[in-house]
Amino acid sequence: MRQIQFNGQKTSIIGMGTWRIGESDEKKDSEIDTIRYGLDHGINVIDTAEMYGEGASEKLVGEATKYYDRTKYQLISKFYPYHATPELIKNSLHNSLKRLQTDYLDVYLLHWRGDTPLEETISGLEEVKKAGYIKEWGVSNFDIDDLKELISLPNGDNCKVNQNLYNIESRGVEYNVLPWQKEHNISFMGYSPFGSDKNSYLHPKQIIKELADQKNITVFQLLLAWAIRNNNVLSIPKTSSVEHLKSNLKAVDVSFTNDELELLDRFYPAPIHAVPLDTI
Ligand SMILES: NC(=O)c1ccc[n+]([C@@H]2O[C@H](COP(=O)([O-])OP(=O)(O)OC[C@H]3O[C@@H](n4cnc5c(N)ncnc54)[C@H](OP(=O)(O)O)[C@@H]3O)[C@@H](O)[C@H]2O)c1
Repeated sequence: MRQIQFNGQKTSIIGMGTWRIGESDEKKDSEIDTIRYGLDHGINVIDTAEMYGEGASEKLVGEATKYYDRTKYQLISKFYPYHATPELIKNSLHNSLKRLQTDYLDVYLLHWRGDTPLEETISGLEEVKKAGYIKEWGVSNFDIDDLKELISLPNGDNCKVNQNLYNIESRGVEYNVLPWQKEHNISFMGYSPFGSDKNSYLHPKQIIKELADQKNITVFQLLLAWAIRNNNVLSIPKTSSVEHLKSNLKAVDVSFTNDELELLDRFYPAPIHAVPLDTI
């Protein structure tokens, strides 16, 4: 499995997203099998959130991982922006840990920016870090101005991760967020490489289908391989199917020629100035 330096550790270049899992009895076995298959085949990052199914995703992840060595994978969860005060962070974290059947998170993320002053959120996160309930903390859906503001605050430069939308149709972070985070040693996670459920946020153009056919891969494999092409993004595709996961794992070994990348750039241009970031 290709590795990336993420949150100070060598980590698989793809993690497992878990939005919309744990919500259906019918899919439960397949979802558990999929997470276990991923862990058994070199994926060592799982991304979840208290928001996903209002705890159902964390519960499923807890069940899937309960017999695994906790030190062998990074578990990331997120809290709602309206739970971002020190007291509410403690409460949310306690509930997440319980559902996940673990006693710590590797990274705890503010899911998106809300009304609570960032100073308060940082101080709550530092408290639970000191107490050993989380190893590190980070943010999600922060643009360059949010990030700059964050690190200017007391202990703000302890932020280790920012997680944003990143796929071939949403490339805004390439302009300033990715280079800035690299410079400041803040790991980047890219979510929704396929544009989320049913490609709702990414509408593959004909060229993607044509190039995928030429390369003898699927559209999904092309999209995932593209997101991780530069080895600077930890992408977290979600799937509840072992078959799909096998296909996604194969995508990790797909590479592109410069001509292929230039062709894709023509249809999906890289940003040449700062743009408002897409989010889901
Ligand atoms: N921080 C944030 O605000 C934020 C926002 C959105 C997402 N996220 C995180 O990022 C993760 C990924 O994003 P996402 O769930 O929105 O969408 P995604 O990973 O872009 O797409 C998931 C969809 O692709 C399908 N799929 C996966 N592999 C496939 C394959 N090989 N062939 C065919 N279909 C395939 C899945 O269906 P099957 O399950 O049937 O395979 C599902 O419908 C989330 O689960 C979550 O952890 C974070």
